[in-house]
Amino acid sequence: MRLLVTGGAGFIGANFVHLVCSDHPDTTVTVLDSLTYAGNRQSLQPVLNKIDFVHGDIADLDLVDELVSGVDAVVHFAAESHNDNSLADPWPFLQTNIVGTYSLLQAVRRYNVRYHHISTDEVYGDLELGDPDRFTEYTPYNPSSPYSATKASSDMLVRAWTRSFGVQATISNCSNNYGPYQHVEKFIPRQITNVIDGQRPRLYGAGHNVRDWIHVEDHNRAVWEILQRGRIGQTYLIGADGELDNKTVVGMILEEFGRSADDFDFVTDRAGHDLRYAIDSTLLRTELGWTPRFESFRDGLRQTIQWYRDNESWWRPHKAVTERGYAEKGEQAI
Ligand code: NAD
Ligand code: DAU
Repeated sequence: MRLLVTGGAGFIGANFVHLVCSDHPDTTVTVLDSLTYAGNRQSLQPVLNKIDFVHGDIADLDLVDELVSGVDAVVHFAAESHNDNSLADPWPFLQTNIVGTYSLLQAVRRYNVRYHHISTDEVYGDLELGDPDRFTEYTPYNPSSPYSATKASSDMLVRAWTRSFGVQATISNCSNNYGPYQHVEKFIPRQITNVIDGQRPRLYGAGHNVRDWIHVEDHNRAVWEILQRGRIGQTYLIGADGELDNKTVVGMILEEFGRSADDFDFVTDRAGHDLRYAIDSTLLRTELGWTPRFESFRDGLRQTIQWYRDNESWWRPHKAVTERGYAEKGEQAI
């Protein structure tokens, strides 16, 4: 199979390319990535001799048309992905997440190429704390942030192109990923690198917001299964029953470094901060037989901490500028 992977220099995309190169070496991979602040060619270093890397924008219709004409399938990871940035400046989110997806859909429609769309559980809005409810494939869309609204919009485009033009598409909506190569702006790597730097972790609000954590490798194995065997037109939710509140996660990180679990600061809350996400992945498990391999979040977290300890040269150039960005957005200890 000839595969075009968009956003392959980002966190999940790079891990996906690593997985394909190691487990499915017959696959030919082309990565299309515009190398925004979140894209990092170094994340592909170990596989650069096995793939084609194209530096370009998914919203470039001509470039996308040319690339899609030469492949059998597209897996679309590229996005502006950080909620806090979407609150500060929504425009790049509309351009990349909506217009960029439109550009890919037009090309896969033209060449009848299989398309898998990577999306997020945030399109469903949030759940109450302590509620037994979880998101399913049939939960109504109710996005809260500019980021999640643009992801919801892109999902709707995929559904429309599938129904109206017969595009051979599947969609997956996954919960919060953690693992190697995640940008230091995101919660877990930000706190790990803060602790490495002798700084205190920073918790938004009261730290009681809940996220449903999944290791990035488990997410990507599910994506591969859906690409191979998923039903066209179907949405699959991906999650590993990993619900934890933010304060608990910070406590676990601190404990891994031998520091007291309450050695953190509460800081300004995120505007519109979603309270809780939780995924019911029954469909994926029963229909495609997927199960997560990382059964213990603590073990996965420990491996991730070790990765950040071993790969300081990967994250160090981005740390100070990211922290400056948070300060400029008005983050303050409360
Ligand atoms: P990321 O921010 O780490 O990486 C995004 C990548 O896309 C970067 O390499 C960036 O350079 C590239 N990119 C951005 N705009 C582009 C453009 N216009 N043209 C080409 N490339 C462009 O993001 P991530 O966390 O790896 O997320 C990947 C996908 O997974 C996104 O679609 C996101 O919505 C989705 N998702 C993420 C999570 C999570 O926990 N991180 C969970 C569920 C779904
Ligand atoms: O649910 C899937 C989504 O998960 C993806 O679609 C997004 O691309 C991805 O960024 C992630 O969104 P979140 O907003 O949940 O992730 P983030 O890492 O920004 O924050 C996780 C939680 O931690 C959230 O409740 C906010 C909180 N937080 C975050 C940061 C950066 C803190 O308390 N302190 C922080 O410093």
